[in-house]
Amino acid sequence: MSTKVTWLGHAALSLETGGYNLLVDPFLSGNPTASVGPEEVQADFILLSHGHSDHLGDTVAIAKRTGATVITNAELSDWMGKQGVKSHGQHLGGGYQHPFGYLKLTLAIHGSGLPDGSYGGNPAGFLLTTSDNKKIYMACDTGLFGDMRLIGEEGIDLAILPIGDNYTMGPDDALRAVKLLEPAHIIPIHYNTFDVISQDPMEWAQRVESETEAKVHVLNPGESLIV
Ligand code: NI
Ligand code: MN
Repeated sequence: MSTKVTWLGHAALSLETGGYNLLVDPFLSGNPTASVGPEEVQADFILLSHGHSDHLGDTVAIAKRTGATVITNAELSDWMGKQGVKSHGQHLGGGYQHPFGYLKLTLAIHGSGLPDGSYGGNPAGFLLTTSDNKKIYMACDTGLFGDMRLIGEEGIDLAILPIGDNYTMGPDDALRAVKLLEPAHIIPIHYNTFDVISQDPMEWAQRVESETEAKVHVLNPGESLIV
């Protein structure tokens, strides 16, 4: 069974995999590029990488409406509990066999404070092994780090990488990340939402495809890739 990955704008994604609907970092209200509203999306699980408002977004409201379980780090999981939301806490390097697949939290070099000032633990990326054994790596908000090479050793079918610069890797470091990860396919995200993260994704795609074996899929918000 294949996995349908849809970019919802900024860092928000929806994944249909193994018969489940997953949302990742569902910042939709107030996201100028969002392709859907928070009341329209379906979710069985919500993956939350860190506590910043452009990722936390509508997580609590969507979880309450849909009954979805939020999967995130232990500190954010505790905070979700205080909001009355179901959650599953994991932490960096730890994986768990969920109904939709095996999900590991990966290192991310970033922050994770919550909008209300609460401590949000350490930020994470996600490495999902789907029920048909595809590996999808979501770097989430991070700078470049050399241990991406270790993640790449798992054999990445799809890498979803930030290229916006300013808050995360920019185009140059994201290209270096591709060389460490050696993914088959790439979706760039976290760019052109705000002026400070303006980038030309087509130019980046050309650079990546001329220097590596990876295929870059530049999506518009609302568009999907099947893996
Ligand atoms: Ni962030
Ligand atoms: Mn962000």
